[in-house]
Amino acid sequence: MATWSGIVFLLVVGLLAVDAADPWWKTASFYQIYPRSFKDTNGDGVGDLNGVTEKLEYLKEIGITATWLSPFLKSPMADFGYDIADFKEVDPLFGTMEDFENMVARAKELNVKIILDFVPNHSSDECDWFIRSANGEEKYKDYYIWHPGFVDEDGVRRPPTNWVSVFRGSAWEWNENRQEYYLHQFHKKQPDFNFRNPVVREEMNDVLRFWLGKGVDGFRVDAIYHAFEVEADEDGNYPDEPRNDWTDDPDEYGYTHKIYTVDQPETPHLVYEWRQILEQFQADNGGDERILMVETWSPIEIVMDYYGNSTADGAQIPFNFQLISNLYYDSDAYHYEYLINNWLTLMPEGKSANWVIGNHDKNRVGSRFGADRVDLFNILLLTLPGCSITYNGEELGMLDGYVSWEDTVDPQACNGYEANYMDNSRDPARTPMHWTDDKYAGFTNGSTTWLPVALDYAQRNVKKERGVSLSHLNVYKRLQELRKEPTISGGAGEIKAVSSYVLAVKRSLSGNYVYISLFNIFDSIENVNLSEVFSGLPATFQYTLITDKSIKQVGDVVSAKSVTLMPHESIVLRSTTTV
Ligand code: NOJ
Repeated sequence: MATWSGIVFLLVVGLLAVDAADPWWKTASFYQIYPRSFKDTNGDGVGDLNGVTEKLEYLKEIGITATWLSPFLKSPMADFGYDIADFKEVDPLFGTMEDFENMVARAKELNVKIILDFVPNHSSDECDWFIRSANGEEKYKDYYIWHPGFVDEDGVRRPPTNWVSVFRGSAWEWNENRQEYYLHQFHKKQPDFNFRNPVVREEMNDVLRFWLGKGVDGFRVDAIYHAFEVEADEDGNYPDEPRNDWTDDPDEYGYTHKIYTVDQPETPHLVYEWRQILEQFQADNGGDERILMVETWSPIEIVMDYYGNSTADGAQIPFNFQLISNLYYDSDAYHYEYLINNWLTLMPEGKSANWVIGNHDKNRVGSRFGADRVDLFNILLLTLPGCSITYNGEELGMLDGYVSWEDTVDPQACNGYEANYMDNSRDPARTPMHWTDDKYAGFTNGSTTWLPVALDYAQRNVKKERGVSLSHLNVYKRLQELRKEPTISGGAGEIKAVSSYVLAVKRSLSGNYVYISLFNIFDSIENVNLSEVFSGLPATFQYTLITDKSIKQVGDVVSAKSVTLMPHESIVLRSTTTV
């Protein structure tokens, strides 16, 4: 007898099918570029916009629809560009506005869409708005969150609350000029905007319109869940956050339980407003749908609010970080199944899924899950229903680079201690991209790089992997070919753990071949009977994608009743008959 959960699940699966009129982003392959580390064309050891332009053809080669670029706007680089001093100017380190325009023009020629990183939560303390705010200029006075703090019984001035910065230490910094504290949820050089001030909101809306006018196809919205803090009381004061009991270190971000500084109920509505701006721009100027991809490390139910509500559309792509936040080296196939289906089940009706496994803030996939699982994650991301988001270098299986304490530059690590800097540093995932086995991995012609090049660049680089038939790069390219199949781009999806060891993703579309991706997560040899897992399956399948773990060849036929997987092997099978 059918259970309720079974019926709900089938409904969800049915809804995942995509129809031909769907917008471009629904099944797009996104690629995140961290420009500092992508390609340097002027020899200063830092990647630049001309470097991105030069490599757009590479994006085309690997089947990318759109790229989101970490910030390249005017910045003192305290947080490597996430501290913006001018929201409408390119930083000279990355090039000029003309370079940006050339990049957009070339991307349009190649039909690669460009997504800008929009950083609304904070500016740099060197931003003109902040300087004027600190000077108390009327218009700018309330652009940021200011408070005089409190003088204690010993006559010592104390910050307004116990709030802690993500990068350690109090989230409040004293400003001599204004004689008040300002809030910074990240670095002290990243003061938080006051989004309760309508003028700030308009200022940010204007930033969006500016870049839309320059031809971008959308925005990745940075740290959105920090945008609002709890409203001040009638005396202008803010409450302390409750303590967490697992650390006594008041400088550690985890010292307080975040109930007033993130995930305030107003925040998704900001995104709804921005969506309106994008829609209006499209209505006025035509072209394809402009998109919002939002970064929020919130509980999944809250993430879902960013899709929109019954009256307003939100972001097309609220980043799905479930596989980053909740999947571990030892997680079994049931855990994978749960995380994937949980997103699909909670996703509001009519919305589309996205899958992310790495970015510039997290250790490399191969370093977190093991180099043996690189293909497994690429195959998973690219054969699940919805859009995939790949961080640059993951298509090569790049691993974390070694960055000594002396060479460490990430403020999240530098604000802490040498003893545990590796736990906090984001530098290892940001080392330069490996293009060739030349000096500096072909990243620069100069004589230095802003972070050291990872030592294994001669083994893992674009040039070499192009020439090895089952390299990670070629598996990735083959996956992009498969994504053109109607079943994979638009078919329904069913995700099931076959056992603790093996995960299966079935994609089907009436009148087409059935595709099944299989993932042997651990290091044992496994045999699976797919007919027991999925009902109504064709009897035989062909290998359509293999990896270097496989002992079979593409085209080999196998019975659905008995598929053998080698340790860590992932494959894609295609039915020999259509359904
Ligand atoms: C999230 C970004 O991904 C990260 O790199 C940055 O440090 C913070 N937001 C602050 O902007």
